[in-house]
Amino acid sequence: MPTRSILTGIGGYLPEKIVTNDELAARVDTSDQWIRERTGIRQRHLAGPHETAAFMGTKAAQAALADAGAGPDDVDVILVATSTPDQAFPATALRIQAALGVTKGFGFDLAAACAGFIYALSVADGMIRVGQARGVLVIGSEVYSRIMNWQDRTTCVLFGDGAGAVFLQAGEGEGNDARGVLSTHLHAQGTLGDILYVDGAVGRHDLPGTLVMNGKEVFRQAVTRLAGAVDEALAANGLVYNDIDWLVPHQANLRIIEAMGKRLSLPPERVVITVDRHANTSAASVPLALAEAYADGRIKRGDLVLMEALGGGLTWGSALVRM
Ligand code: ACO
Repeated sequence: MPTRSILTGIGGYLPEKIVTNDELAARVDTSDQWIRERTGIRQRHLAGPHETAAFMGTKAAQAALADAGAGPDDVDVILVATSTPDQAFPATALRIQAALGVTKGFGFDLAAACAGFIYALSVADGMIRVGQARGVLVIGSEVYSRIMNWQDRTTCVLFGDGAGAVFLQAGEGEGNDARGVLSTHLHAQGTLGDILYVDGAVGRHDLPGTLVMNGKEVFRQAVTRLAGAVDEALAANGLVYNDIDWLVPHQANLRIIEAMGKRLSLPPERVVITVDRHANTSAASVPLALAEAYADGRIKRGDLVLMEALGGGLTWGSALVRM
């Protein structure tokens, strides 16, 4: 029987502080109505000073390990998808390794913006399949509030902070009905780097580094690229739209999410939506949405879940998982 990556635990963490659209409208020239109508967002969680990517990622990882009934000794590798690490180095993954009490294996951060969790899941799946690791924590943790231009109403209303994590463990299985990661597909198009980027980093002391986005172009790219990714995932596994139990999409904009649900002919109640309460938490959005729908009992063992995301880079991809 071939080795397969089984998703054995899921967890999430959201900062305590909630900021409503009305509260934002007191700081920039916007309104609850504009934000809700264009994006579906009603509120977002924003990190306090102690709620860093490492802090939130640790909380999400602890929840995922507890859900799996696993402990530090079961963790071989920690992968953190983040564009907002605590430090240039050590990697956020290693701060989390220390906080969890994991004393073996290795870990690193991976930057693929909002598609980061799908990228990290793909890397983790590969490591398990080739026998390099038996237990991999895959974490998306982001504090975009720290890279926002809080004077720019076209971007600052769209994002929130948080972390989500899954624990993948080596198991055995064959075919679409057996538990585990059935496939991942990754894509990138560097020539589209200027439609969504952060204009600085620690290597650029001349620039502070805040997020810049051509929203209309990102929207246009998201609808077409994600539709292609969804079709690609199904075709690769010999599946059709009807076989999907749940769509867990990146949570950037309700209109993009609804368009994807319609394309898959999924009834709205089979599409997990958190963007209304979390806003866009970038690499944390997919695992946070998965954690919520799993914790409240909507997503169950045996369900077929399709995840997809697109982010700055341009990066995008999909993961198909039998829970
Ligand atoms: N409040 C009030 N008015 C606003 C706001 C605001 N917060 N922001 C923009 N406006 C105004 C604009 O100035 C413009 O006014 P004008 O017509 O007088 O010039 C008007 O509203 C329309 O602006 P548009 O940018 O055309 O609005 P659009 O309908 O395109 O919606 C949005 C903007 C919500 C950003 C949309 O384009 C979108 O969701 N894009 C996709 C974003 C996305 O998917 N990102 C995912 C990746 S994120 C990552 O990887 C980090």
